[in-house]
Amino acid sequence: MRNETRDIATMDEATARAELTELARQLAEADAAYHQKDAPILSDAEYDALRRRNAAIEAAFPDLKRADSPSDRVGAPVADGFSKVTHAVRMMSLSNAFDEGDVTDFDTSIRKYLGLGSDAPLAYTAEPKIDGLSLSLRYENGALVQAATRGDGAVGENVTANARTIRDIPQHIDDAPEVLEVRGEVYMSHADFSALNDRQNAAGAKTFANPRNAAAGSLRQLDSAITRARPLRFFAYSWGALSEPLAQTQEQAIARLARMGFSTNPLTRRCDTTEDMIAHYRDIEAQRATLGYDIDGVVYKVDDLALQSRLGFRSTTPRWAIAHKFPAELAWTRLERIEIQVGRTGALSPVARLSPVTVGGVVVSNATLHNEDYIAGRDSKGGEIRAGKDIREDDWVQVYRAGDVIPKVADVDLSRRPDTAQPYAFPDTCPECGSAAVREEGDAVRLCSGGMICPAQAVEKLKHFVSRAAFDIDGLGAKQVEQFHSDGWIAEPADIFTLKDRYGPGRMVQLKNREGWGEKSAQKLFDAIEDKRKIPLGRVIFALGIRHVGEAASNLLARHYGSWSDFETAISAAGALEGAEWDDLLSIDGIGSVMARSLVTAFAQDSERASIDRLAAHLDIEEVARVDTSQSPVAGKTVVFTGTLEKMTRAEAKARAESLGAKVSGSVSAKTDILIAGPGAGSKAKKAAELGIDTLDEDGWLTLIGDA
Ligand code: IVH
Repeated sequence: MRNETRDIATMDEATARAELTELARQLAEADAAYHQKDAPILSDAEYDALRRRNAAIEAAFPDLKRADSPSDRVGAPVADGFSKVTHAVRMMSLSNAFDEGDVTDFDTSIRKYLGLGSDAPLAYTAEPKIDGLSLSLRYENGALVQAATRGDGAVGENVTANARTIRDIPQHIDDAPEVLEVRGEVYMSHADFSALNDRQNAAGAKTFANPRNAAAGSLRQLDSAITRARPLRFFAYSWGALSEPLAQTQEQAIARLARMGFSTNPLTRRCDTTEDMIAHYRDIEAQRATLGYDIDGVVYKVDDLALQSRLGFRSTTPRWAIAHKFPAELAWTRLERIEIQVGRTGALSPVARLSPVTVGGVVVSNATLHNEDYIAGRDSKGGEIRAGKDIREDDWVQVYRAGDVIPKVADVDLSRRPDTAQPYAFPDTCPECGSAAVREEGDAVRLCSGGMICPAQAVEKLKHFVSRAAFDIDGLGAKQVEQFHSDGWIAEPADIFTLKDRYGPGRMVQLKNREGWGEKSAQKLFDAIEDKRKIPLGRVIFALGIRHVGEAASNLLARHYGSWSDFETAISAAGALEGAEWDDLLSIDGIGSVMARSLVTAFAQDSERASIDRLAAHLDIEEVARVDTSQSPVAGKTVVFTGTLEKMTRAEAKARAESLGAKVSGSVSAKTDILIAGPGAGSKAKKAAELGIDTLDEDGWLTLIGDA
């Protein structure tokens, strides 16, 4: 690459300044193309190389770092100009199936959740998964009143004027419920895509990388006259807010949308068995190349809408649907080197740096290598993977992408292995801080023992702390955290909350005097930090970045303990790994022993605990919002289900109880408020009786919660 020809060590200031200017320009252009125009102009590898080059020159010439340095920017802001729309019903994504086994598992888990035997009839619909972008269309009394993109699922962009230009989208519909929100996919056909690119070329304008980017770029035009000139199409496949049900089954609902004038996919079928589903998948796969538009899999949905509503949603995906993806594309390339990254928990993660190669339309230059066993050709139980072939630097490897996941190595070509290639020696010291890197019995991961003295761990912990699902502080992203950490301004999360006292107005060193920060942006940052002192308990637990304790588990813990003080008292007391608090922790459905151990170890470790305490002292941690007790007789109560339930499954009962604000525990203790005992209840019922705990049968429970 042209930028990498000059040696930085012998570079003079004028040349460095000129190159930084050029890099800032190129990166800003690439960011805008990627984030605002959905039309990337650089491959991932080229983009990364430019950023690395920029960082290297800045490191050699710190005084030349520009006020608008690309190092201080994380991507580009979303396109200005569209107003925001809060979706009445969140727009979800789909979980994925990659093979037939995943499809049968999907069917099995649904049957289990619903309490259906393996032979009970259970129909699904199967239809192509369109590779475009989802759009929500709101109709009131039959008139289109709003169109919104998915955005982050909760809030999207208002693109009503643009949606009105799409021919497949009716402006008015007859025979519609008072409120009807139709959802579907905006896409561009192959023929329209290539004609558009020809026109763009002829006009000297930018061309699009693929039909999906072209569709996204065309829909998100501030001038709807441009959208009108772009040949966009729309398939309707689901719905959001509704004033009355559309139909009783998915198939009928789609047929009704078709009668209202929406385009629906002609390859939608009703399937009575998983064999039918897979046969239809094969059929669609065989037609994929001749459909004339991009699809990336097949979506299966439970047909009966009453069952869909019983199944409900996980945090971001419905339980009643899954996307069966087409197999990943593969490509061979050379593995140049193996690098070790140290994460927030101290895990040493090996990454393959590859000669850039295109896999399914995307340039890939990195792949994950998971852990040392994976490199050696073994799985976590010592069995062979890749027929036992290890991975070495200079090997030719086959890489693949499946869905949006990080690329992986599928295979190694031993016939092309150079004689000089040596088995990879996994480090037993941390490459970042030199501390011993230790692997515990039964753990595939080697962990740096340096804790917060390890700069990599510290900075990754801080990045996690400010991430979206954690503290999510506006203006304090990964880049800023890296900068503040490397300059010694923040060493641990608590320091974020003293930043203003130390560097804010009236102090000798002021944030606004730093390069890249003005008075306004500094004040905005302090305000944003101030804003997050008051924070929900689940976010705080997640933000601590404790190994194995993810977002869902953090919310379970928050719901179970209710307040920070109850949580930290209980977790400290559970440190003995035995006794009432330990048992209580393990009784939480969804918290296993590995996670529990990791959690109590973090709280028992002196320096980590001290750092947590320093943080908590700056916060006003909100208790978990309880469901209105006047309407939910079980809010805040701890309930245990035992024995056989006859009107619903255990999973369903648990989800329902939790939605009413109850805590569901797996074992009876003095903290249990209600035991729901079905036929066959044994020791738990006995224990509850001994403890004098209220015991109900299933009907009694349904009456109590008003579901009878
Ligand atoms: S159903 C509750 N059906 O895939 C989920 N989605 O990976 C409703 N998509 O965000 C989605 N074709 O944009 C559904 N036939 C189809 C689809 C489809 C494409 C998209 C949709 C969704 C994404 C999830």
